[in-house]
Amino acid sequence: MLVLGIESTCDETSAALVRSGREIISHIIASQADIHASFGGVVPELASRHHIDSIIPIIEQCFSRSSFTPKDVDLIAVAKGPGLIGSLLVGMQTAKALAWALNRPLVGVNHIEAHLYASMMSVPYLNQYFPALGVILSGGHSTLVRIDDVGNYTMIGQSVDDAAGEAFDKVAKMLSLGYPGGPLVELKASGGNPTAFPFRAGTVKGKPLHFSFSGLKTAVLYTLRSLEAKGPLSNATVCDICASFQHAVILDIAKKIRLACETFQPKALFLGGGVTQNASLRSYCSLTLPLPLFWPSKELCLDNAAMIAGLGYHTFLRTQTDERFSLEPEIRIVF
Ligand code: KG4
Ligand code: ZN
Repeated sequence: MLVLGIESTCDETSAALVRSGREIISHIIASQADIHASFGGVVPELASRHHIDSIIPIIEQCFSRSSFTPKDVDLIAVAKGPGLIGSLLVGMQTAKALAWALNRPLVGVNHIEAHLYASMMSVPYLNQYFPALGVILSGGHSTLVRIDDVGNYTMIGQSVDDAAGEAFDKVAKMLSLGYPGGPLVELKASGGNPTAFPFRAGTVKGKPLHFSFSGLKTAVLYTLRSLEAKGPLSNATVCDICASFQHAVILDIAKKIRLACETFQPKALFLGGGVTQNASLRSYCSLTLPLPLFWPSKELCLDNAAMIAGLGYHTFLRTQTDERFSLEPEIRIVF
């Protein structure tokens, strides 16, 4: 089954052709990061306008880099949310128009679930690893789920305030490093001392598997203010702040993963979302967690349409429902 996937939830416009949920045939991702960088974050109105300009050329390019034409597509999958309403509408209306023009079924996919599927996509004999623990670390979500199958999840922990990626972005902004903040904080952290500042992530009373990063972000802010009162920050101090902040986030994520593993016996860990690009997170978890870990390939960490097409295949097999008439964008979806 050849699936055309379309992603436009935030500031990446992407299209992909994926066969049977696994084999990526063609994949184009156009990031708008440069456009939003000067504003220090995504400007929703600008994002939707740029999606409108680029979505058709991106889909055309996706086909032209393959040996397929739109008529070869068996199913269209589109990210239905969560995301920015204007951005979501562009992808969804395009997907609906294509589904009508080609007379093919349309399926809506949860973007967050797709981030998780990104690490499952290339794993052979996936079922042998269930039940597994899923860890989603993106710009909007820090979530732990028990995975019993693709499409069968139980949420066991989530962020109560800032998500992990959001905390990276906000710390980058405080330090005027730029946007998106995660990779820039990681770069500075690589030259710093992770124990220079005693930062710690928060705990949520009675909910040990929930995440709270807003107190950590505030601790960074107060530290910065008191240091800046004494004079301009040196590059070494900025590196130490980034390293200490990143270290606190990583320790907290690993601690909660370990705790979650005690609630049931997962056979493996599947991780997804933009923060999983972080090399220190990857090496710390790989070294300290005693179970098989699956990370998305670099191409599939950030927002992309291949994960949408891949998960769309499984969703359609399960539901057998053509959503051409009913699909609407959902700016918030509970996992
Ligand atoms: O999953 P994603 O592309 O978008 C959402 O669905 O939210 O994640 C984007 C987030 C941003 O907050 C970005 O700063 C963070 O992932 N990120 C990183 C790294 N690369 C991206 N965070 C930490 N370290 C990185 N290397
Ligand atoms: Zn995302």
